[in-house]
Amino acid sequence: MPPLGLAFHLTQRGNAQHTRYGWLRLTPAYSVHTVTDLLNRYALADDVVLDPFCGSGTAAVACAERGLACISTDINLFLVWLAQAKTRIYSPAEVDQFRQIAAEIIQHVETIPRDVIWLPEIHQREKWWDAEVLQLLGALWYQIQQLRQQISESIHDLLKIAFCRVVILHSHASFSHQSMSFKPARQPGLFARTLDDLGLTWQASVNDIARSLQTPIIVPPAIYLHDARQLSALIPRNAISLVITSPPYPNRMSYIRELRPYMYWLGYLNNGRDAGELDWQAIGGTWGIATSYIGRWPIPDDHGVVYPHFAELIQQISQHSDLLARYVAKYFVDMRQHIAELYHVTRPHARVFYIVGNSTFYDVLVPTEQILASMLQAAGFSQIDITPLRKRTSKKELYEYIVSAQKA
Ligand SMILES: C[S@@+](CC[C@H](N)C(=O)[O-])C[C@H]1O[C@@H](n2cnc3c(N)ncnc32)[C@H](O)[C@@H]1O
Repeated sequence: MPPLGLAFHLTQRGNAQHTRYGWLRLTPAYSVHTVTDLLNRYALADDVVLDPFCGSGTAAVACAERGLACISTDINLFLVWLAQAKTRIYSPAEVDQFRQIAAEIIQHVETIPRDVIWLPEIHQREKWWDAEVLQLLGALWYQIQQLRQQISESIHDLLKIAFCRVVILHSHASFSHQSMSFKPARQPGLFARTLDDLGLTWQASVNDIARSLQTPIIVPPAIYLHDARQLSALIPRNAISLVITSPPYPNRMSYIRELRPYMYWLGYLNNGRDAGELDWQAIGGTWGIATSYIGRWPIPDDHGVVYPHFAELIQQISQHSDLLARYVAKYFVDMRQHIAELYHVTRPHARVFYIVGNSTFYDVLVPTEQILASMLQAAGFSQIDITPLRKRTSKKELYEYIVSAQKA
């Protein structure tokens, strides 16, 4: 393989803040450059595109902006909400009203009595936000909630997105690692925690969001809360002509873990148990109780994963950790089920592109791209190709690939 650089523009970091793509950060979101490049090369005007692992909606926005019909699914209700809000058409009057209401509510933050302020029950809340910031966020959130009956859902959603941006920018969350972690306790945050600074962040977020809405949405996509392992229950047979997607990787990245601050504030999560239960529904989920479930998950004898070295690979990992062996096995069993379903909903000659990363467990390399390629072939797809896209970290030999195929 040729040496590939750490091409950051091919990650979510390439998704500019002042566009719809950059509204909220999702570490494993793929780059709009990757998606648009594939669309430039392969999309035809009458294509119906599917992204079964919608995430923050990158493919859905890219299709919507160029007038391509697109269906997206995700198992996470917060992400479905975010992607729907991102791909909506907002009238100039709505954008003006959003700006106006946003300017008004920040003026009143200090006047909200403490006893009406609600704070989310996220574990170790004080690790996320300083007490003063928490009260200000609570006061801002209180006003957004109070407006729910008085303004349109569209404007309410825009306020919630601006709120999410302030929530994360004024938290101690650090994104310098592959996934989110906390900054050391004594290190000051990015911003001083005063009302003035919070107000500036709010205003900047509102401006960014309002500006980004100028990009026209030509065809709004259809975005569903749905399991990618059951596509045929949602999408008619032969309906899809192009698939561009980035599924979870088998690398123990938990989307719930990453999204907790937003999901708790916006009411999608109320406790740690529910967070683990939700992650258990996701492919590759590994947060909280999901880990206990994986530990008890029996690897089926008829797992159907056709990769020739699969049993050996699982055996090698199990020598170090039975739990991780089950985790990896379950990931591929789930992906196999998804690919079988994908075959039903794609039409003849449909092209399929998966952006995936490999991973290592105790120096055992899991060649995700090769296993997915084998599974695509076994499902009936042909013209299988694996193209390296970029190196994922500077430390380990971890790569991202485009695995592509076509239905005969
Ligand atoms: C790598 S992320 C996709 C990121 C996306 N391409 C973007 O740009 O934001 C994988 C997504 O798959 C979703 N997911 C996991 N299991 C799923 C399932 N069974 N059905 C549908 N979506 C699922 C996760 O919630 C996550 O949003």
